[in-house]
Amino acid sequence: MEPIKLNHPLIEHKLAILRDKRTGTKEFRELISEITLFLCYEAMKDAKLKEVEIETPITKTKAKMLDENDYVFVPILRAGTGMIDGIVKMIPNAKIGHIGLYRNEETLKPVRYYYKMPKGIEDKQVIIIDPMLATGGSGIDAITLLKEDGVKNLKFLSIIAAPEGLKKMQEVHPDVQIYCATIDEHLNDVGYIVPGLGDAGDRIFGTK
Ligand code: PRP
Ligand code: URA
Repeated sequence: MEPIKLNHPLIEHKLAILRDKRTGTKEFRELISEITLFLCYEAMKDAKLKEVEIETPITKTKAKMLDENDYVFVPILRAGTGMIDGIVKMIPNAKIGHIGLYRNEETLKPVRYYYKMPKGIEDKQVIIIDPMLATGGSGIDAITLLKEDGVKNLKFLSIIAAPEGLKKMQEVHPDVQIYCATIDEHLNDVGYIVPGLGDAGDRIFGTK
């Protein structure tokens, strides 16, 4: 599946401020949240609705609503948690799972150091959130672990993606639709996205 990229002047504008090294923690967090809101909007385009009956001040009518319980958003620790705010602005009752992982250097297999999912995850639409898709390693491993737990419907939302990571994720998990705000030029020799925004976790949490 080809990645879906947000294509909008407002997103370009917000990305410019987000990337700028002079942008401070408060504004950086706000921008991550705002851009996530639009990623969430795009990713919900094919959401199924159920018919409900409501009463307006004028009359009874049929309307359509989302079953918010069908969706689980899963941030990859740590930077992915910076996107939760934008998600819950759009879907206030969305369930949130958390995944923290590292790669065992000998086996190269992903190891969960934190993993907490809502009950019945295997029947939900699961949407992984992480602002950066660089080599694709973290995202690919998160998807692998969720599939091992029986999850069948997966999407992946990122703010900045590198072509190298996108290609790898599409090869390993061709069934997962990726959404991103933009696709950057390339990775540098230490795996950072160029031009990118630096270390997303450090900029969200003010740790550097
Ligand atoms: C960042 C980012 C992704 C990962 C992307 O997290 O949030 O999870 O790097 O890189 P990859 O595609 O090459 O795997 P990082 O490992 O820096 O941890 P942090 O969120 O705790 O800062
Ligand atoms: N993780 C980040 O936070 N930034 C990058 O550019 C690559 C991985």
